[in-house]
Amino acid sequence: MIVNFDKYIDNRHAKLSKFDGLRSLYGTSQDTCISMWVADMDFNPPQAVLTALQKEVSHGVFGYYGSNKSFISSIKFWMKSRHDWDISEEWCSVVHGVNSGIGMGLRAFSEPGDEILLFSPVYYSFFNTIKNNGRVVKEIPLKISDGHYEIDFHKLDKSLSGKEKIIIFCSPHNPGGKVWSTETLVSLAEFSMKNNIIIFMDEIHHDLTYPDKPHVTFLKAAPEAEEISLIFTAATKTFNIAGCHTGTTIIPNPKLRSIYDREHAAFGKTPNRFGMIMTEAAYREGAEWLDQLMHYLENNRNIFINSMRSLSKVKVFDLESTYLAWVDFSKLNITEEELKTMLVKEAGVAPSFGSGFGKTSGKFARFNIACRTEILNLAIDRLTKTFL
Ligand SMILES: Cc1ncc(COP(=O)(O)O)c(C=O)c1O
Repeated sequence: MIVNFDKYIDNRHAKLSKFDGLRSLYGTSQDTCISMWVADMDFNPPQAVLTALQKEVSHGVFGYYGSNKSFISSIKFWMKSRHDWDISEEWCSVVHGVNSGIGMGLRAFSEPGDEILLFSPVYYSFFNTIKNNGRVVKEIPLKISDGHYEIDFHKLDKSLSGKEKIIIFCSPHNPGGKVWSTETLVSLAEFSMKNNIIIFMDEIHHDLTYPDKPHVTFLKAAPEAEEISLIFTAATKTFNIAGCHTGTTIIPNPKLRSIYDREHAAFGKTPNRFGMIMTEAAYREGAEWLDQLMHYLENNRNIFINSMRSLSKVKVFDLESTYLAWVDFSKLNITEEELKTMLVKEAGVAPSFGSGFGKTSGKFARFNIACRTEILNLAIDRLTKTFL
């Protein structure tokens, strides 16, 4: 079935944080401003997901979800069929989203006051989850080499205090969409093993890659890191079902698994029936939809990147994966506040501001380009007029 991603979907009254937040966070509204900050898409999920939900609604039985066997087997199926990654079903557990899994993991494997390593810029919720759990963010800025982010392992080695317990790493990278290479992932695994640091690998964006740059699955690149790793993933970004708040934690090491499980039990292990049903339908029947989505997004990506490249004082990073484009406005010689005003009030576009992603990215912004191409072009027109 051909999916029409250009179809207009009226989402204005769907209680979306991307619109409601425009008022509370940006002081504007969807009437005047194009919302490009939240990481969800303007498209309906695959028909299989809607059909599965409609079936649920039609029988009207919403009791506690029973055996999760078929859900877990759909995860195994997806990892094998999409990523050629063999996992064991017993490694997997269902969580209420990746952020929630990471929060529980922090509590399971560190103590208040312990340092948690982040390579910035990186997804802003990591900072909040660490701080709200009383742990300390240790931020190591990525270096820019040849227009790409890289880990500066030399600096990393020199900065160690001995209090680091966990690394939270985002692969592919949000923001910036970098697909990390096998070499980088192997070096990260070696560094962590040498220093006795657990890795939380957030692979939630792993399906959102373009044909020229496939995702490198961490535990395929560095199988020895199974001993020290927790992998977090979900179908929510891939299939645009973030509101169903369901994700998966994959932990090969039985010792780590049992420690994590105890923490999980302390919060009450009650899976979300709707999230599981939607996720399973997406994994079992969503592959073709996803291929078409990536084709559509590739075109959006090319349009956005080429347009931003035509602006002499704006630098856009290559978008190797994801629909979250990372743009550097620092050449403009204006303050962060002035940049925000220009984006929101003058251009009428609301991206995520860079400061949330780390200490070196205050003059950056992250743009979600997963909208109809018509809307993207409108946003580009506005940006071009403002920043030419
Ligand atoms: C890297 C990354 N991890 C986690 C999340 C949130 O995941 P969840 O909604 O499952 O908590 C996001 C959402 O944008 C993300 O980009």
